[in-house]
Amino acid sequence: SPVAVLLGGTSAERDISLQSGNAVLKALHNKGIEAVAIDTAEPGWVQALIADYQHVFIALHGIKGEDGTVQGLLEMLGISYTGSGVMASALAMDKMRCKQLWAGVGLPTPEFAHLQADSDWAGLMAQWGEAMVKPAHEGSSLGMAKVDSAEQLEKAYHFAEQYDDVVIAERWINGAEFTVAVLAGAALPPIRLETENSFYDYEAKYISNDTKYICPCGLAPEQEQQLKQLAEQAFASIGCSGWGRVDFMQDEQGEFYLLEVNTVPGMTSHSLVPMAAKAVGMSFDDLVENILALSLE
Ligand code: DAL
Ligand code: MG
Repeated sequence: SPVAVLLGGTSAERDISLQSGNAVLKALHNKGIEAVAIDTAEPGWVQALIADYQHVFIALHGIKGEDGTVQGLLEMLGISYTGSGVMASALAMDKMRCKQLWAGVGLPTPEFAHLQADSDWAGLMAQWGEAMVKPAHEGSSLGMAKVDSAEQLEKAYHFAEQYDDVVIAERWINGAEFTVAVLAGAALPPIRLETENSFYDYEAKYISNDTKYICPCGLAPEQEQQLKQLAEQAFASIGCSGWGRVDFMQDEQGEFYLLEVNTVPGMTSHSLVPMAAKAVGMSFDDLVENILALSLE
């Protein structure tokens, strides 16, 4: 039966998902694989899926797509799907619990606090100097802000709260940002990201032409090896499978810190996983075919 590419959906990352999904659909067609797009924002999409499909490529980002809910539905229906299963998807979508797990198994991640209306704004900023505020279950940097005062921290909390019930603040790591794509449990070449914005925000990700993507990433071979190994460990520690992308900061002393795992990373023309695949000679179409093949093993 044809492959259903699930795209769009109702999350705040809908627009990005439409871009990812349409690119995936085109790649499947290029490979001679019959595939049809299904937008999970459309009423009746589940019935349409049940009637005709046994295999799904998930190109949904964010809530109700990347967070284990669609994965659970597909498990119940006995339909194969790309990427991580229910538990890993849910954990990766929850930045706070994911960081708690990493801290628990000794993987490095920046210190953080669960922000609440009565948080000690001044105390946190006295400790950290600068911080990132994040809704715990968002993607594409939506709802995030970088802050350097107690007043800004409280304001950023109220902004992030519009996106999510759970808001965290993370100690800001001053240094370079890296991302590592993982395919079938193995890291692809890391990419270093450089932006002129105060952090790698939505504009830097999807709009700006000034963001720099550097691959090979310029790390010394043993550091690059360490980064790839950390990505593989982070991916495995929460039980991910298929494919994903692990985001990092490196501080000025050279230490790496895990920020998050994306279990359905962007697959747009600007996206990072396709860039890393290209560095090992794997075209976009090959990458899509490989991700699908992993779901059928
Ligand atoms: N959440 C976006 C799609 C990404 O991680 O690429
Ligand atoms: Mg993300």
